[in-house]
Amino acid sequence: MTTPSVKPASLAPAVLEQLWGAARAAQLRAHAPYSRYAVGVAIVDEQGAIHGGCNVENAAYPQGWCAEASALSSLVMSGARHARGVLVLGSGGAWITPCGGCRQKLREFGDADLPIVSATAEALGPVHSLDELLPHSFGPDHLITP
Ligand code: THU
Repeated sequence: MTTPSVKPASLAPAVLEQLWGAARAAQLRAHAPYSRYAVGVAIVDEQGAIHGGCNVENAAYPQGWCAEASALSSLVMSGARHARGVLVLGSGGAWITPCGGCRQKLREFGDADLPIVSATAEALGPVHSLDELLPHSFGPDHLITP
């Protein structure tokens, strides 16, 4: 077992509470008639505003998208550009972490120590940093030329 190089930034209990509530509200609005797996995500931005999102599936299966994408879309549309914390709420008793593609989407707006909280409808679970979930990642900084 290796010690993670980047620890997740800490989130205040009040912010965690808000994130959990927003993710739960979003999860209840999920459009997941095919997988029947509803996901809710909430992201706190650089101003402290919270953005929720749910998964939106489609009869043409590959056209659906994840809850993280919905929440990020809400963050960007509000004018924000930075994620300070993320909470992901999966269905059932087991907590989940964002899928691979969503880890990369979060990378666009989050630092290496971005805390990603896994949760269920009943309880908060572990917190991972973005760097733990997406090590050695490619990001916007790689495209900036001197
Ligand atoms: N899903 C998410 O919304 N986020 C993830 O990180 C993992 C998977 C959704 C996609 C699909 O609608 C359902 O969960 C089952 O894969």
